[in-house]
Amino acid sequence: MEFWALPPAAREEGFAELRATAPVSWHRQPESQLLPESEGTGGYWAVVRYEDVREISRDPERFCSSRGVMFEDIPAELLEASQSFLAMDDPRHAKLRKLVAEAFKPRAVKRIDEGIRADARTIVDDLGGQFEGDFVEAVAKRLPMMTIMRLLGVPEEDQEAVLWGVDAAVSWNDHEFLAGRTPLEVVGESMTIMTEIAYRLCAERREQPADDLITDLVQADVDGEQLTDAEISAFLVLLSVAGNDTTRHTTSHAMRALCDFPDQRALLLDDLEGRIETAVEEFVRWASPVMTFRRTATQDTEISGQPIAAGEKVVMFYPSANRDESVFERPNEFDIARSPNRHVGFGGGGAHFCMGASLARTQLAAIFTELLGRLPELEVGEPAYVVGNFVNGIARMPFSGEGGIRTLEAG
Ligand code: HEM
Repeated sequence: MEFWALPPAAREEGFAELRATAPVSWHRQPESQLLPESEGTGGYWAVVRYEDVREISRDPERFCSSRGVMFEDIPAELLEASQSFLAMDDPRHAKLRKLVAEAFKPRAVKRIDEGIRADARTIVDDLGGQFEGDFVEAVAKRLPMMTIMRLLGVPEEDQEAVLWGVDAAVSWNDHEFLAGRTPLEVVGESMTIMTEIAYRLCAERREQPADDLITDLVQADVDGEQLTDAEISAFLVLLSVAGNDTTRHTTSHAMRALCDFPDQRALLLDDLEGRIETAVEEFVRWASPVMTFRRTATQDTEISGQPIAAGEKVVMFYPSANRDESVFERPNEFDIARSPNRHVGFGGGGAHFCMGASLARTQLAAIFTELLGRLPELEVGEPAYVVGNFVNGIARMPFSGEGGIRTLEAG
């Protein structure tokens, strides 16, 4: 826990040492705030190099997801309520993913692109004359919520509650968020709130179908059977968590980096439309908002010459793979024109590759086009980080700006 309380740059020093000296190393069972040590599942192999992360991600026969994907040991009921197909193997994984995947394919995302841009414009409009505040509240958390809630079909009056649930679901190691309550209490409450909303929405959509994902799910046919409310609820929790935190924290980290590397900001501003695509890839590499996912070896095998026994856990550290000096030149420099930039921020490829990658790219391009285009002098201060081993989060970050909001040239 001490290690995960360090800022990202300090953690990277530890990862750099492991990459150089022990790319696949054995570690004792991670501390868990949610289960007593005696109920833990033991130690794990830490995989910190880029190529190894790719190899594991692309070989689910050898490294499966159905025996858990979280770094830390977590009670089974919680996993069941929140992970859906993320923690399954094919064929069940593929069947369930297919039910919603269509809505996240590049073609479908293109259809909602204009709506996403309009939301991004609203967020910047809403800053109005406010040139000071918390960047996370005022900017970073808003666009992901607007998009994913609309896609799912969560009505506006439930959105704040779902968003609190999303934050609580990934903040169990963060004492500030817990504010004196136990991690289990807070995560339990988060699941209760999100599950209640999901069950209610399932009932409503059965009565009155709408053009949204919850309706698709209540009507879905999987091998002649309907999904249960519990299964749909786990979908909703997975999509809400996966679709909110990740893009939000990438937005905050990227804004901070643009202030830390003013020459890169100037380069981007110089040709915002032409450079935003490569910039977004660098935002994701730089932020690596998802820090860990785990697999379990299904057979005796090896990674980079290190024998791994059947049943042993392997944990992939995405921020480390994204700073791997054997793949990325000057990995600790933020370079908005980096090309190629085959980062593993969205995963190392394979069946579980991030389903929301196109959506996230579109959202990031939209918000930064608006922000930088209309508030070119926007500055952010020191971030307060979320403490934890799963999401590389920024809880708060002050912003200020001068000069007023500009109008973007049409086109
Ligand atoms: C910058 C933003 C994002 C990042 C960095 C990110 C990262 C990731 C990563 C690392 C994985 C695991 C990949 C693997 O195991 O190989 C993943 C899976 C997933 N992501 Fe994202 N994600 C982002 C945005 C989104 C959005 C907007 C959604 C929309 C709902 C989303 C939905 C999912 C889902 C459903 C999965 C599970 C896929 C599966 O198991 O088949 N993600 N994401």
